[in-house]
Amino acid sequence: MDSGTLVDTWATVGSCAQIGKDVHLSGGVGIGGVLEPVQAAPVIVEDGAFVGSRCILVEGVHIGHEAVLGANVTLTSSSKIIDVSGDAPQEYRGYVPPRSVVIPGSYTKQFPAGNYQVPCALIIGQRKESTDRKTSLNQALRDNNVAV
Ligand SMILES: CC(C)(COP(=O)(O)OP(=O)(O)OC[C@H]1O[C@@H](n2cnc3c(N)ncnc32)[C@H](O)[C@@H]1OP(=O)(O)O)[C@@H](O)C(=O)NCCC(=O)NCCS
Repeated sequence: MDSGTLVDTWATVGSCAQIGKDVHLSGGVGIGGVLEPVQAAPVIVEDGAFVGSRCILVEGVHIGHEAVLGANVTLTSSSKIIDVSGDAPQEYRGYVPPRSVVIPGSYTKQFPAGNYQVPCALIIGQRKESTDRKTSLNQALRDNNVAV
């Protein structure tokens, strides 16, 4: 875990996870480790990312710098991460590009017993001024030199 990172109450950070500078891990965030069960790659959260309340990041997922994960986004290496901000959907797995704003979503999946909704994550755009306002507590604490 690097300098300037804020870890809120009930957040847990698993073994070997790499959390960059000035990251915000909100209340109840769960970052998986590599030991139980054994994983090939650690979870990586790059500098300046904001991880919203109760997010779960496991199985070596990699969050690009300054990305914003809205509350309750759950990502495993299998989770579809669909960028819906352009003309056509663009799909990622295990990786969120820098400065993406991500929210929980669902898609329709066909099973032998019929069609059901399965959770996914949606990239709804890039970090903008209003996003920064909603996620700026960390900076306010820094600007005012409040110890945390
Ligand atoms: C993701 C988040 C930062 C909003 O980002 P934003 O870039 O400001 O997005 P906007 O509010 O402009 O929303 C854009 C659209 O996405 C939708 N949206 C945004 N966040 C959403 C969410 N978490 N769930 C569902 N829909 C969401 C909005 O309804 C909006 O739709 P509209 O254009 O039809 O009105 C915010 O929703 C969020 O989850 N913040 C985390 C809060 C938190 O965990 N704090 C820590 C407390 S310990």
